[in-house]
Amino acid sequence: MLSDIDFAARYRQHLDASGRQPKPVSAWDARAAELGAKPLGGSYANAFVSRLDLSDCHTLLDVGCGPGTIGLLLCDRMEHVYGLDHSPAMLEQLVRRAAELGADNVTSIRRAWEEPWHDVPRCDIVVASRAGLVDDLDDALAKLNAHARRRVYMTQLAGGHFLDPEIDALLERPGIGLPDHIYALNLLHARGIYATLDYIETPSRLAGAESADAFVQRATRILGELSNEEASRLAAWYARDPERGRRGGASMRWAMLGWESPGS
Ligand SMILES: C[S@@+](CC[C@H](N)C(=O)[O-])C[C@H]1O[C@@H](n2cnc3c(N)ncnc32)[C@H](O)[C@@H]1O
Repeated sequence: MLSDIDFAARYRQHLDASGRQPKPVSAWDARAAELGAKPLGGSYANAFVSRLDLSDCHTLLDVGCGPGTIGLLLCDRMEHVYGLDHSPAMLEQLVRRAAELGADNVTSIRRAWEEPWHDVPRCDIVVASRAGLVDDLDDALAKLNAHARRRVYMTQLAGGHFLDPEIDALLERPGIGLPDHIYALNLLHARGIYATLDYIETPSRLAGAESADAFVQRATRILGELSNEEASRLAAWYARDPERGRRGGASMRWAMLGWESPGS
């Protein structure tokens, strides 16, 4: 029976087997200025916000808020927005960008998923956008539920890959992929919560290169140093089908889960 399956344990096993190393705070700090320099909005963030039911919601908690990708898009529709993140540099970007918008209703909370959240405010709506690759998904869902008065929305990887698996294979990093949204759906189901499910597609992070050389440069910037062998494989892959190469292979798919808070 489905109820015999311990999805919390299966998720942890999958994460371990994927070989993923947790990203330290310093790695997120290092990306904060670049992410904070991007204009607010964009296709992913707009798609996320357009799927929210904000009725009767006046306060919002944005978990893993980064530079305020979602929270800042909503601060003019909320009485108060709280952005929670473990990266001080991301929170600096959130606060700087809120000031630029003239928003005085945004508060930053320096906190990790793994720490106690006793003093984190309970809000009408809680979102966790592209920030759910946690060590303990069951605990993360419990925290989201405990802090939501009305609704929760979360995006998780669909398919378990940040890049086209074909490109991962070229780089000899095929692996089994990361755990995706199916675990969260099942963990919610086990709590009697029937989440809605929708998908947001975004261009590959490797999209936009106009030549094989530019493609290799982009891949190096995003993936880190590549061996000569890896670089020439990527260049050959691009040259075989430049149109697909310009798209950076398959687009990324995020699963968006939404549900009524069990406490609502
Ligand atoms: C991919 S970014 C997403 C940012 C934003 N929500 C978005 O959709 O653009 C992931 C964010 O989660 C934060 N994060 C990662 N692990 C975390 C943890 N264990 N506790 C709290 N925040 C974490 C990172 O610092 C980063 O700002």
